[in-house]
Amino acid sequence: MSDVTAVPKQTSRRTVEIELGDRSYPIIIGHGLFDDGFIWSSAGEGDCAAIVTNTTVRPLYAESLAKAISSRFKRVIVIELQDGEVYKDAASLNHIFDRLLTERADRKCVLFALGGGVIGDMTGFAAACYMRGVPFVQIPTTLLAQVDSSVGGKTAINHPLGKNMIGAFYQPRLVVADLDTLSTLPARQFSAGLAEVIKYGPILDLPFFDWIEANIDALISRDPDALGHAIQRCCELKAAVVAKDEQESSVRAVLNFGHTFGHAIETGAGYGVWLHGEAVGCGMVMGADLSMRLGLISEAYAMRLRRLIERAGLPIVGPRLGADRYVELMGHDKKSEGGEIRFVLIHDDGHASIRTAPGAIVRQVIEANC
Ligand code: NAD
Ligand code: GLY
Repeated sequence: MSDVTAVPKQTSRRTVEIELGDRSYPIIIGHGLFDDGFIWSSAGEGDCAAIVTNTTVRPLYAESLAKAISSRFKRVIVIELQDGEVYKDAASLNHIFDRLLTERADRKCVLFALGGGVIGDMTGFAAACYMRGVPFVQIPTTLLAQVDSSVGGKTAINHPLGKNMIGAFYQPRLVVADLDTLSTLPARQFSAGLAEVIKYGPILDLPFFDWIEANIDALISRDPDALGHAIQRCCELKAAVVAKDEQESSVRAVLNFGHTFGHAIETGAGYGVWLHGEAVGCGMVMGADLSMRLGLISEAYAMRLRRLIERAGLPIVGPRLGADRYVELMGHDKKSEGGEIRFVLIHDDGHASIRTAPGAIVRQVIEANC
């Protein structure tokens, strides 16, 4: 096995720094982190901590987390939300505010987001708004959240007209990615996380793409070395992008590869029917097809990416919503400018660009892949 494809043997703790001046913070990746008193020192201390979680994750991990942070806070309250993308809405957000106000949580109260990307995005947005901003900590418990959503400060809720349309850029104080939590993650959710892992290869790091291809079976079987390496590499790649362009005025948009088609799939099928990672995986198949039709990548490269997404256990054919509906939904994408849809396109040399595409070709892509 070559150096590029070898799994680095390192099961110990890994740390990746997000460099944003006085808002910099570490992402700590490893096993048994809940039991390590030291790492929680940067989470803060004071009168009140609020763990925001959901009905699925609470019975699994809320008690251990409460125990881990109890010596730092006079009281730890747990705010439980319904589980699901369909609850990533204004009503759930308001429930967080209701509880914080009822508990008389002050502006030093630290919110702990314990769960996947849905909980992380909502808790971050609640932290950005409550009393005009309170600190928060991300404790991602899905693969998708560990490699993407907990890092970089994008927070949001959905609107019936579009995914993540109401939100803020608001950075956490600390991210704690405990690999042990992935042991309870259902296989379908794990595959959804692999979509975001795969995403980083074609847009930023072709050797990492090769590595994922060579190690996809180890990743699917949740080999700790392979997982630790993949999560660390994804966080490093994302950290570099976020440090350059925190608020997505330029280069950060490449992290949305697959998302223009993917968000249309998620919204069009109905929130929660397609998992976010599934929609992104299928969206990347469509994004690669569009890149190929525009002459940016070879057919062989597009097929290679498609095969890897399929091997990760992800769907590669989108729902038949009709081209008109796709185009209508994609018009709501946050990258649209002056009513024109902009796509993240990939190139043979391993970089990505953002541009418009002729409507007729976009429709061909939809017809060929849905
Ligand atoms: P999710 O939060 O819905 O979690 C998936 C499912 O797994 C849920 O049912 C959850 O309760 C359950 N779960 C979580 N941890 C578990 C565990 N350890 N064991 C067993 N079950 C567990 O979905 P997700 O895929 O984590 O996140 C998707 C969301 O993230 C979407 O809303 C998407 O828009 C958002 N997102 C945000 C960013 C960002 O930069 N902020 C990036 C990517 C995705
Ligand atoms: N998930 C895309 C981003 O964080 O910018």
